[in-house]
Amino acid sequence: MIRLAVVGARGRMGRLVEEVVAAMPDAEVVHRVGSGDPLAFGEADAVVDVTLPQVSPDVVRAAGRASLPVLVGTSGWSADRLDALRAERGEGGPAALVVPNFSLGAVLAARFAEQAATWFDSIEIVEAHHAGKADSPSGTAVATAERIAAARSGVGPVAAPHTDQRARGQQVGSVPVHSLRLDGVLAAQDVHFGAPGEVLTITHRTQSREAYAAGVRLAVRALPGLTGVVVGLEPLLTP
Ligand SMILES: NC(=O)c1ccc[n+]([C@@H]2O[C@H](COP(=O)([O-])OP(=O)(O)OC[C@H]3O[C@@H](n4cnc5c(N)ncnc54)[C@H](OP(=O)(O)O)[C@@H]3O)[C@@H](O)[C@H]2O)c1
Repeated sequence: MIRLAVVGARGRMGRLVEEVVAAMPDAEVVHRVGSGDPLAFGEADAVVDVTLPQVSPDVVRAAGRASLPVLVGTSGWSADRLDALRAERGEGGPAALVVPNFSLGAVLAARFAEQAATWFDSIEIVEAHHAGKADSPSGTAVATAERIAAARSGVGPVAAPHTDQRARGQQVGSVPVHSLRLDGVLAAQDVHFGAPGEVLTITHRTQSREAYAAGVRLAVRALPGLTGVVVGLEPLLTP
């Protein structure tokens, strides 16, 4: 039985974690922390952080001081932040599992985009999120573009003309990324691959927060067996 402390327990993701864990026979939420509470973890064996990008590093540090593994669902863990975390935590010791997207469909969509990356020279990403999302492009779009760029290291940057024009999006690893912020949308991403005579589009839609449940379960179960800093659900998915 994994006993969890949830930081950000009263937020939307915190409530989802509570609901998912309540249905798991092998996990239990034993401690809940909100913005008005001391940052402590009670009798927990592991910590789940679903707070705010500016709060998350303190939660992760506090979990490290308490020698507890931490599952981070909060956004904002850029490559720089992750490098600093790796330096802080080292290779061994309890894990920090940082999951930018709990949706298994989104993780697989990024994997498929990586597979297609070398076969098309025109590649662009269009992502859409609810109007309340403060940051753009989304972390998922940035991660997808970075994976495409890494896969193309042998063939070079994508062919993206006229990127000096603002409407052509923000380039991430040479891939133009376009962000929509719309009422009525939760999260969506289309990766378009163009070649002479054809276009392949890899589409993912998050229709409701239920999309995160399977990923939360997978991450909670994997956490005790991990060490060091692990990023994303990809390493937890068998081929
Ligand atoms: N990984 C994924 O798949 C995924 C999916 C969706 C969202 N997210 C990310 O998850 C995070 C949370 O999203 P959300 O929609 O749940 O946001 P939310 O509803 O605004 O909840 C955030 C929670 O953080 C808590 N909080 C703020 N400061 C705190 C502090 N100093 N100590 C402890 N708790 C504190 C708040 O507690 P009080 O209520 O007590 O003030 C609030 O309940 C965001 O970064 C979001 O982008 C990730």
